[in-house]
Amino acid sequence: MKRIGTSLRHLMDLTPRETWRLARGRLPFVPKGPAWTAMDLLASVKHRHGIRFAELLLRQEAILSRELGWKPLDFAGARVVEVGCGPLAGFGPLAVFCGADVFESAEPEWDSRLFFSQEISDRYLRVMHADLTGLYGPRISFDTFQELLSERIKVHKSGFAAAPVSGEADIVLSQSCLEHVFPLETTIEKIETIQTPLTRFIHLVDFGNHYLTPSPFDGLYDQPPESYIAARGEAINMLRVSDISALFECKDIPAQVVPSRVIPHSNRRSVHSWWRERYDDDALFTQLALVVSIP
Ligand SMILES: C[S@@+](CC[C@H](N)C(=O)[O-])C[C@H]1O[C@@H](n2cnc3c(N)ncnc32)[C@H](O)[C@@H]1O
Repeated sequence: MKRIGTSLRHLMDLTPRETWRLARGRLPFVPKGPAWTAMDLLASVKHRHGIRFAELLLRQEAILSRELGWKPLDFAGARVVEVGCGPLAGFGPLAVFCGADVFESAEPEWDSRLFFSQEISDRYLRVMHADLTGLYGPRISFDTFQELLSERIKVHKSGFAAAPVSGEADIVLSQSCLEHVFPLETTIEKIETIQTPLTRFIHLVDFGNHYLTPSPFDGLYDQPPESYIAARGEAINMLRVSDISALFECKDIPAQVVPSRVIPHSNRRSVHSWWRERYDDDALFTQLALVVSIP
């Protein structure tokens, strides 16, 4: 009962449609529906904004350029792999527009019929194509864009560790995904199998609570992680930036970690001793970090 109460309280932070979608999936007395419908996606401020992926990449590469002298990713002719691309193929349309040969991903909530539906084509891909054309120039027509998407985008409906993704990748990406993966270790092991020393990668990890609370850390450090996960389900794995860094190192993937949003602690909440004994303030209050290949 306490668990349902906690979930309901946090559902209040979302738009009514998003609240309904989550309730439909999580509450025992509500009939289940598909993970996503076109209406859900087009009503979501986040998901309907397809050019978001280009904006994210531009921002992330600007930070990496300043911090590490990073050169922009070149998608032309590349084999691009994304972990957890989301229901609208994540970086896929951008990568294909910019010339990628192949875009492959594994996404448990994938529905190929939905992504290639007329509604998503008319109301999502057409706008995204126009925005990509504005940003990168007129490379391909909308008809060619659609043809290339159907030829070059391959998404497995599964977790990444279990997906039949193999062979060398030129570029590996993930956007706010690694913090949702249980257990993360096998996914990092899998990533290692498709990388070469020349593979370039960017993983954006969000260490916040994923709710619209005043601080992104509200509630996270009130108890040990097992209790938090037991109360809310396996939504975020609670690993901190230092854990992710250690995992890449332990799986022999040379990586650099660049914090991109650090929010110093507000004293309103105490931090449980479990966290204080294991992490310093940098690890506790880094909300966003980029885990990237070494330029
Ligand atoms: C916050 S969403 C981000 C989706 C997308 N990257 C975006 O930015 O819109 C996290 C995604 O990770 C996916 N995910 C969770 N566990 C996964 C796993 N083991 N392998 C691949 N994807 C996973 C979820 O289904 C979800 O789509």
